Amino acid sequence: MSKIAVLGYGVVGSGTVELFYKNKEKIISKVGKDLDIKYILDIRDFPDSPYADKFTKNFDDIINDPEVTIVAEVIGGLKFSYGYVKACLEKGKNVVTSNKELVAEKGAELLKIAAEHNCNFLFEASTGGAIPIIRPLHQCLAANDITAIAGILNGTTNFILTKMINEQMAFDDALAMAQKLGYAEQDPTADIEGHDACRKICILASLAFGKHVYPKWVHCEGITKLTLEDVMYAENWGGEIKLIGSVKKCADGKILPMVRPAFVCNNNQLSHISDVFNGIMVYGDAVDEVMFYGRGAGKLPTASAIVADIADAAKMNGTSISQTWEDSADDSFIADYKDDVVSVYVRTNGVPAEKISAAFGTVEYLSRDNQPDGELAFIAPAMPERKFDEKLESLGGEVLGKIRVLELD
Ligand code: HSE
Repeated sequence: MSKIAVLGYGVVGSGTVELFYKNKEKIISKVGKDLDIKYILDIRDFPDSPYADKFTKNFDDIINDPEVTIVAEVIGGLKFSYGYVKACLEKGKNVVTSNKELVAEKGAELLKIAAEHNCNFLFEASTGGAIPIIRPLHQCLAANDITAIAGILNGTTNFILTKMINEQMAFDDALAMAQKLGYAEQDPTADIEGHDACRKICILASLAFGKHVYPKWVHCEGITKLTLEDVMYAENWGGEIKLIGSVKKCADGKILPMVRPAFVCNNNQLSHISDVFNGIMVYGDAVDEVMFYGRGAGKLPTASAIVADIADAAKMNGTSISQTWEDSADDSFIADYKDDVVSVYVRTNGVPAEKISAAFGTVEYLSRDNQPDGELAFIAPAMPERKFDEKLESLGGEVLGKIRVLELD
């Protein structure tokens, strides 16, 4: 019998407990051994819960109970989770988590502790919600030299963008709806400023390229500066604006991880991913490209990945799988995004077309309904972003929008 403790009874924690008991018999038959949840840690009281007898406010009950061999950390953030997870791994307890901040900031250290203590630190739920991506990247695609990964990695922002595009809903209303549906982080700044997607691309990049990529090394832009006007220009251009997290291998061997809103052309599958869904393209030398798609956030989709990790941890108790990467002392293996060659969409006010041609040569002008006099929107030819920024600066006038065009494939 493996006993489980669930740390945190919020959206994902309650979903984990609900899903575990809903499908308990099926899960046990797949694992081949008995499993049960012994503790749920939360500072709040849940007297009416059917699981009321399992609640504790004291982490010591869990860490000191030798029967507990699997701990699901779904508190989020670093404040409590880091200490709890480290203590569990040091005692040889398997830990599964949906906490992308924990994995992105402390993954190398925690994976090392898990290996040293013959237990597992599993985090399928940290990236892509319900989508299996961590194991496929580490196991099923292991034969490939991964050249790039690009994806929609945040359900909340994709939900907001979909509502803005399809229903012309205001940004704040769409965000409030995402919060109500349990998609957004406790502090939704992490979603809309791109930090959540940044943590997720750090995890995927670390797995794919074998060295820990810390979020502070990644250029990250969110969706807060996007306007409905930009959305309209993108539509008329033949695409959609999506928040893209990506990493690619550069010619000099460095890698370039990045998070930013991007114009995604309609012939790229990522442009068709709507609502809370995530989509992740992985490019490898043998597979060419593979795509992963599914619900990127929400109670049961995320719980699905957590409970699957619990099942794997139960099967592998006493052994440590090699899902790991090295720590990195510095960012010398990370390329400067300003050197990346990119096409960029620009929306200007009060800049004459002659000045645009003088700076950029031939550009592709875009149009929209009710385009006011003086507003010009165009896509500049591909060039290193540093050079693009210098030319943009030289235009004068007002720059109302600047969005890169996604060109990975
Ligand atoms: N806030 C996250 C998202 C939750 O919207 O994608 C899932 O990681």
